[in-house]
Amino acid sequence: MSRPFDIGLETLTGQPLLSGNVARQGVGAGQRGTFFLETFGCQMNDHDSEKVAGVLLSRGYRQVEKPEAASLILYNTCSIREKAAQKVFSRLGEYRDKQAEGKIIGVLGCVAQQEGEDIFTRAPWVSLVCGSASYSKLPEMIAQLEAGNHRVTGLDTDTDETFETDVTRRDNPWRAYLTIIEGCDKACSYCVVPYTRGPERSRASDSILREVRQLADLGYSEVQLLGQTVNSYADPTARRMRFSELLLAVAEVEGIRRVRFTTSHPSDFTRDIVEAIESQPKLCDHVHLPVQSGSTRVLRAMQRTYSREEYLEKIAMIRNASRPIAITTDVIVGFPGETESEFEETLSLLSEVKYHNLFSFKYSPRPNTPSLAMRDMIPEEEKGRRLAVLQERQREIQTVQHATLVGETFEVLVSGKSRRENQWFGYSTSHRVINFTSQATELLGTYVQVHVTGAGPNNLVGEHAA
Ligand code: 5AD
Ligand code: SF4
Repeated sequence: MSRPFDIGLETLTGQPLLSGNVARQGVGAGQRGTFFLETFGCQMNDHDSEKVAGVLLSRGYRQVEKPEAASLILYNTCSIREKAAQKVFSRLGEYRDKQAEGKIIGVLGCVAQQEGEDIFTRAPWVSLVCGSASYSKLPEMIAQLEAGNHRVTGLDTDTDETFETDVTRRDNPWRAYLTIIEGCDKACSYCVVPYTRGPERSRASDSILREVRQLADLGYSEVQLLGQTVNSYADPTARRMRFSELLLAVAEVEGIRRVRFTTSHPSDFTRDIVEAIESQPKLCDHVHLPVQSGSTRVLRAMQRTYSREEYLEKIAMIRNASRPIAITTDVIVGFPGETESEFEETLSLLSEVKYHNLFSFKYSPRPNTPSLAMRDMIPEEEKGRRLAVLQERQREIQTVQHATLVGETFEVLVSGKSRRENQWFGYSTSHRVINFTSQATELLGTYVQVHVTGAGPNNLVGEHAA
């Protein structure tokens, strides 16, 4: 979702407003108009929006918090599950009359890619439709709109470009997201991503490292490297850096204290990544490794490229590391044809692995995906039941696991303050949420030691250990 915005261009670029790239555009902030940008979806989408906002800011637009105050209204959308895709159309419906007021309305992201020009038919008040693989052409497209063109589209997916911007407006002042690989070359049978985001494109390692150095200079201490299959990273430059080498190089940048990465694909999760985490404490002790199902038969139907046993071998490799590494996962329940006993295999996998957190979803049939044509769709009600059973099992696991952490002390990056007095929250390196009390007056963005005094299924509570 869009967040309030109060960072100036100087802060974003680390440069005074009238120098460098921004000055070359020849416009000052707010000169061109105002934009409202709302985002639905995953971290990749959030970060794409940060880059889109950067492009608009450097072209002289000013960001506003309400669509009513904007001359350009943009929705960056997710279509990974049906619910998210529907939300965009209901939002667009709300802005039906705005075009008449001279506002430009645009749809970006996966729904844009998926629905293409049909969006103009369904919502004729929309002027811009642009999928994520075409974002590098956004400045051009915006220029066309400014020149009076009423309909512009960017829907290519056969690009070999990645979306790099001179200016990125980041929402989180401490953790910077950085896309290192776009698109996806896997072909999971339920997933729209290869279709909406196009083929895999890795960003040059020198460009990534340059941006990390800039981020550190701007005061960011935590970076999170992003990609749908982040560990499939293949450096296109002559250096041919492996993903694990890139992780180590990012961690070595002065000022960087924590490095995260998500999402990893189990098939490309290799021993050298574990070794990098073992050798470099700045690499966070957390791996998100979606399993999707605990049944080899279902995994084959999902085209996940590994069996239950192969996945468990990866888990064993991570668990054998010289320092503990937290593991989280994604699971889909009710994939077409999933039997009760196959679902139970997923439950038994949860009990075996004991994930530190789980993101679970009911299977959602998506356009253009092979699983759409599969037989034996599971009724909604049954999917809902399986989801509830799965979540209850995970809740039990987390309750037991969290209880064992009482008495331990964690380093926490303080990320927020609760409305209650002296109450703060932050994240441990293993990405556990810890709510804690402290008498200190200003802690946001700092690293503090927190002593855990209590635990629930979803978080830990503690006290600032001076
Ligand atoms: N239905 C349900 N969940 C899905 N995901 C991806 N596609 C679908 C779908 N069609 C889930 C997967 C993935 C996460 C980001 O979203 O679990 O890892
Ligand atoms: Fe989708 Fe599979 Fe690619 Fe992940 S790896 S984005 S689930 S196709």
